[in-house]
Amino acid sequence: MRGAHRVPRALSSDCTMNQPETIATLAASVAAPADVRHPRLLGWVREMAALAKPERIVWCDGSDAENERLVAAMLESGTLRKLDPVRRPNSFLALSDPSDVARVEDRTFICSERAEDAGPTNNWRAPEAMRATLHELFDGAMRGRTMYVVPFSMGPIGSPIAQVGVELTDSPYVVASMRVMTRMGRAVYGVLGRDGAFVPCMHSVGAPLAPGQADVPWPCAETKYIVHFPESREIWSYGSGYGGNALLGKKCLALRIASVMGRDEGWLAEHMLILGVTAPGGRKLHVAAAFPSACGKTNFAMLIPPRAFAGWKVTTIGEDIAWIKPGADGRFRAINPEAGAFGVAPGTSYESNPNAMEMLKANVIFTNVALTDDGDVWWEGMTREPPAHLVDWQGRDWTPADGKAGRKAAHPNARFTVSMRQCPSIDADWENPDGVPIDAFVFGGRRSDTAPLVVEARTWEEGVYKAATMGSEMTAAAAGTVGEVRRDPFAMLPFCGYHVGDYFAHWLAMGRRVARPPRIFAVNWFRKDGAGRYVWPGFGENMRVLQWIVGRCEGTASAVETPLGWMPAYHDLVWDGLAFAPEQYEVVTAIRQEEWLRELASHDALFDRIGARRPAVLAHERERLGRHLIATAIE
Ligand code: GTP
Ligand code: SPV
Ligand code: MN
Repeated sequence: MRGAHRVPRALSSDCTMNQPETIATLAASVAAPADVRHPRLLGWVREMAALAKPERIVWCDGSDAENERLVAAMLESGTLRKLDPVRRPNSFLALSDPSDVARVEDRTFICSERAEDAGPTNNWRAPEAMRATLHELFDGAMRGRTMYVVPFSMGPIGSPIAQVGVELTDSPYVVASMRVMTRMGRAVYGVLGRDGAFVPCMHSVGAPLAPGQADVPWPCAETKYIVHFPESREIWSYGSGYGGNALLGKKCLALRIASVMGRDEGWLAEHMLILGVTAPGGRKLHVAAAFPSACGKTNFAMLIPPRAFAGWKVTTIGEDIAWIKPGADGRFRAINPEAGAFGVAPGTSYESNPNAMEMLKANVIFTNVALTDDGDVWWEGMTREPPAHLVDWQGRDWTPADGKAGRKAAHPNARFTVSMRQCPSIDADWENPDGVPIDAFVFGGRRSDTAPLVVEARTWEEGVYKAATMGSEMTAAAAGTVGEVRRDPFAMLPFCGYHVGDYFAHWLAMGRRVARPPRIFAVNWFRKDGAGRYVWPGFGENMRVLQWIVGRCEGTASAVETPLGWMPAYHDLVWDGLAFAPEQYEVVTAIRQEEWLRELASHDALFDRIGARRPAVLAHERERLGRHLIATAIE
């Protein structure tokens, strides 16, 4: 126990929701609102405050008034700039420190008791050693700052599928973002009652202020730690204020910690969008699709069918994370645990994603996009012609000449934070606590070659093999080598909170838990030609592939069998309204022997890393795939 003498002198609550009630068992200076009646939460807040030594504590209530106070303070400190109230009402721009622009996978740790439970794809540290490191880092980390207590629910508040978290953070930007991305506010204190479960999420930007020291617009630290304790279900994040590093409900709780909960309790936490698709006069189907970061989930989730698909409708349930549970009806049911989108801005336009553009008309926090002279935002790909002058994401002047010289106006991982409620294609069932029934799983990497436009697995096991061995070219969503192909199993490489071999086994077992497991498809929108141009038009035109997927689920679409599984022949897709010749189709669907031999070697390298925890079923699938590929080569 830390003694009362370590509790900071100046702790006080400036909460306005209720008359603050001082809890007798706490140091007199820690006051919580009256509706916080949870001794363990109070004890933890007291302990964390004693460690991080903030200037003051604010218990957040999620109200508009509170948000307005936070925004006003951030406008004052320069963290936010207000955008033009006519062009972009109630919207703001944050420019991060240039060193703090993406998730830091090499600084992300899974601290399970045993190293082998984190597995070969995670960074592991012994929990006790990590606790010592964190204790040192967080000691005084919030000096001179406010510690916000942010209660949030992943999933609708009070729903049986929801998980509660409480994030302690010294970043008002994180508080404002969590308010959009989660169900944040005082109702969560009610759900917690006296002893409800919550995931403690401790966050600091790691930039304490000495007395009189001026703050910077985007405080952060060079040293970064994004740490998960899967057994005790705790999260600690230090040094970054950006996205998945800092909004701890998202990747840390809803994927890494939730994947462990799912393993233990028989469900799945996945890096997947969820969409509904209805054919004219047809049944409504639901698809959950996993693509790695910045590989098209938001776009696919909000797809607008091309004109030739009159009467087809796509609706959005989620665009980044799905929690999937076996339902009483023998089917998987999926919910979106998030309340907002933290989406990639560059590439988003009225051509590529009109729904997102409509969603971004007001009430948005933009981060690391460029600022126009009339107080609006711009990013690469938003319009064909860039404006004549911009302020870039680092606050420097920018003209199209700079763009031609290769300097981007927006950071490639620039993002928007916006409520899902503003999505024009939002599905009526997006907050249904029972979720939506899943008919098909889709897995898609970003591959210039090798992977064909679409292929359907013949069995659940073959589908799991495809997802497990998925490769993708790295994007700017994570600090690292952009463009390099890496294995990204299930698009979960950076997000699986336990041993990836056990995760594969869990997926295999889950397929046996439901009477009617969904069909599994692999897609690739990103094949390039000899000149390095995308061949497939993508975006809304992906409807043509989605229609075929629906047809396969309904038993109406035909296909040809290939070494990889079922694929549509050219005439199995509908081409109305698109000039796409059989020769182009060949470019995006060809299965090339030499590419696939390289691919198999890369699968083998992944399985070698996984070692003994690779399920035997996947070894059989590997063998079968090898045989199929060799057999077709001999024909
Ligand atoms: P995270 O939020 O990082 O998990 O990513 P996401 O999968 O939601 O990414 P998003 O949908 O925002 O994808 C962003 C990038 O994918 C942009 O560069 C888009 O232009 C590109 N993209 C999306 N769909 C397509 C497509 O069908 N074809 C091509 N060529 N690019 C696409
Ligand atoms: C991703 O990288 O997959 C994201 C963005 O969705 S972040 O929340 O920063 O992880
Ligand atoms: Mn994501």
